[in-house]
Amino acid sequence: MIHEIDFSQGILALAPLAGFTDPPFRSVVKKFGADLTFSEMISSNALKYHSAKTFEMIKKSPQETPYIVQIAGSDIEVIKEAVLILNDIEGIDGIDLNCGCPVPKIISQEAGSSLLLDLPKMQKIIETIKQTSNKRYTSAKVRLGFNTKIPEEIAKACEAAGVDFMSIHGRTRAGAYKAEVDYEAIARAREAVSIPILANGDITSYEKALHVKEVTGCKSLMIGRGAVGNPWIFYQIKNELLHVEKSKILEIVIEHYNGMLEFYGNRGIAIFRKHLHTYSKGLPNASEFRNSINCVENEDIMRDEITAFFK
Ligand SMILES: Cc1cc2nc3c(=O)[nH]c(=O)nc-3n(C[C@H](O)[C@H](O)[C@H](O)COP(=O)(O)O)c2cc1C
Repeated sequence: MIHEIDFSQGILALAPLAGFTDPPFRSVVKKFGADLTFSEMISSNALKYHSAKTFEMIKKSPQETPYIVQIAGSDIEVIKEAVLILNDIEGIDGIDLNCGCPVPKIISQEAGSSLLLDLPKMQKIIETIKQTSNKRYTSAKVRLGFNTKIPEEIAKACEAAGVDFMSIHGRTRAGAYKAEVDYEAIARAREAVSIPILANGDITSYEKALHVKEVTGCKSLMIGRGAVGNPWIFYQIKNELLHVEKSKILEIVIEHYNGMLEFYGNRGIAIFRKHLHTYSKGLPNASEFRNSINCVENEDIMRDEITAFFK
């Protein structure tokens, strides 16, 4: 079944964040306002070798449609094999190529952001994905460049390769995660092509989302770290709210907790503690709350503690 993404009014996407955006988290942002979710980066090599852990990472939650799987790699033949494997998995609506990862292990494999140093190669890889894939969407997630900013060239190469849309993190690889995000450079990329562009980088509030839309001219946004401990940011942007009422926060936290139990079983209680620490940051009596949940191992007692604190 084909699931169309309507870019005409702009969409909100959850950025892939390895180690954070697991199915329960993706499910909760999806329910409360994100239009599009991505898997964490999946190594094309690991897919080729049918790694069990990799298949676990691809799993999507039931309401997570449309859903895009992001792959990383640089070897055309391996990429082709990885795409053929994804072709046999139902429920995936698109394949995204990672052209932004800055970590040395990925760079040494000439993948991730190092593809921005060789745009013809990047283009060839995207073309291979597009030609091999039986999914509705092909996309790429890029930075502004490796050391220098070349947003127009990158966007044009992606468009020429046939992507249906692309996401741009407004920093170079050299800018890592700290340099100031250059929204004007994202605007230059947008002006150079006619495909939809998702603007990404440091969107942490409803006001910032408005600012980024205005400066970049992009209708669609992608949010990563701004959603961790704060998944209601999607609800806020969708509903044009400066503040979210407490009852909605409680509803979202409980929904996330239930999703963790469903996905991880009883282990979900312990894993959820780190989320509760972030959710409670800055709220009155947060340290007492953290102390008291640290030893809770019972599902219902934990739910009662959460309800009492966020009520
Ligand atoms: C912990 C962490 C993990 C990330 N994992 C991925 C990933 O798997 N794939 C990817 O394309 N980008 C990844 N990114 C980059 C984010 O998707 C995003 O582009 C970047 O964090 C900037 O957006 P933000 O300020 O909204 O977080 C990761 C970033 C962080 C901090």
